[in-house]
Amino acid sequence: MVDLIRQAEEGDHARIVDSIGTWWSDSRSPAAARELALLVPRLFLQHFGSTSFVVERDSRFLGFLVGFLSYDRPDDAYIHFVGVDPAQRRGGVARRLYKAFFDMVRQEGRSRVECITSPANTGSIAFHRRMGFELVPGDKEIDGVPVHSDYDAQGHDRVCFVREL
Ligand SMILES: CC(C)(COP(=O)(O)OP(=O)(O)OC[C@H]1O[C@@H](n2cnc3c(N)ncnc32)[C@H](O)[C@@H]1OP(=O)(O)O)[C@@H](O)C(=O)NCCC(=O)NCCS
Repeated sequence: MVDLIRQAEEGDHARIVDSIGTWWSDSRSPAAARELALLVPRLFLQHFGSTSFVVERDSRFLGFLVGFLSYDRPDDAYIHFVGVDPAQRRGGVARRLYKAFFDMVRQEGRSRVECITSPANTGSIAFHRRMGFELVPGDKEIDGVPVHSDYDAQGHDRVCFVREL
């Protein structure tokens, strides 16, 4: 039973949407989980499949990472969305996805990776710290974590991460 990590493709879109709807159902209502899946519209797989990755075991999805190389910032790459099957968490799946992404970013001559999360997502904050990300100073702190107020919209604060490669 060997896990396969590969670049994503458009045909993965439906499974990613299904995975988000299933994997987040413990923390959200089914409707809210489906709404979350709209953060990964098909266009990401159409245009950024080769900079995104999936991990499979026996053709079953274990996790995925959706990322891209910045068009406007020539040194930068961005991780837009990452998710791991709750039954597989803390087993190194996301670490493998991030390593594949970092390797690709380096090969493409980029030197910095950025991403964001919500202040309530303490697991994501801990994970990104373990993965070597620094927290970008914000305009306030919540439980010692720097937060950027109204980052995406009013009331949608974010924690911003950056990792130099
Ligand atoms: C965050 C997430 C992607 C981590 O995936 P994972 O496969 O469990 O992570 P890994 O097993 O590869 O962990 C890598 C390191 O981070 C640490 N880590 C992972 N999740 C953690 C958590 N919730 N709390 C503390 N540390 C954590 C691991 O201990 C590991 O450290 P180590 O290798 O030094 O022991 C996963 O929990 C997830 O899908 N969460 C829901 C979606 C989400 O929050 N996405 C990020 C939004 S930006």
